[in-house]
Amino acid sequence: MLEDDLAQWVRERVKPKRYTHILGVRDYATRLAEIHGEPVRPLRIAALLHDAARDMPREQMLQQAEAWGIPIMPPQHAEPVLLHAELAVELARREWAIDDPAVLSAIRYHTSGHPDMTRSDMIFFLADGLEPTRDYPSVDLLRRIAERDVHRATRLLLANSIAYLRAGGKRIHPDTFDLQARLESEARSS
Ligand SMILES: [Fe+2]
Ligand SMILES: [Fe+2]
Repeated sequence: MLEDDLAQWVRERVKPKRYTHILGVRDYATRLAEIHGEPVRPLRIAALLHDAARDMPREQMLQQAEAWGIPIMPPQHAEPVLLHAELAVELARREWAIDDPAVLSAIRYHTSGHPDMTRSDMIFFLADGLEPTRDYPSVDLLRRIAERDVHRATRLLLANSIAYLRAGGKRIHPDTFDLQARLESEARSS
C-alpha cells in the first residue's frame, strides 16, 4: 500500500525525531480534515512526504535543487533548509509519480504559506504546526481553535510564526506576509 511504502521510504531519509513529527502531522491532519470535511487521503500522503528532504545535508540540498531546476534565491542560498518544501514536491513527483494538486500544494506551502492556499492546504499547515509533539505556550489553545475555525487558527499560527522568526532575526518569506494580508482582510469583512 502506498502509505506503508512511503512511511518506510521516508523513515530511512530522516532523523528519528523527524519521523515522529511526520507521523504526528499525518495523524493530526487526518483529525482536522475529518472535523472540517476535507479529503483525508491527500493530506496523509502529503504528511509522509513533506519533510523528506528536511535532513539532507545543506550542500546536497543546493545541488539537488539546481539539478531539478528549482529557483535558488539569495535567502535560500544562505539557508538551504528553506528549499526543503520545494525539494519534497519534486521527490513526490519524481520518486512517487504523485501529481494530485491537493498533495503537492499542501507540501509546497507547508512552511512559508501562500496567499493562494486552499482550506485543505491550511489544514495541513495547521497540522504541521500543531501536531502532538509540538510544545509551546499557546499550542493547546491553537489546537482548540484549529478544531473549530481553520481560517482563524491559520491567522493566529501565522502571527505566532512571524513573531518567532522576527525574534530570531530570521528572514520572512513575502508569501507569508501575503497570506497574512489575505487572512486579515477576510477576517475584517466577515
Ligand atoms: Fe517542513
Ligand atoms: Fe513538518
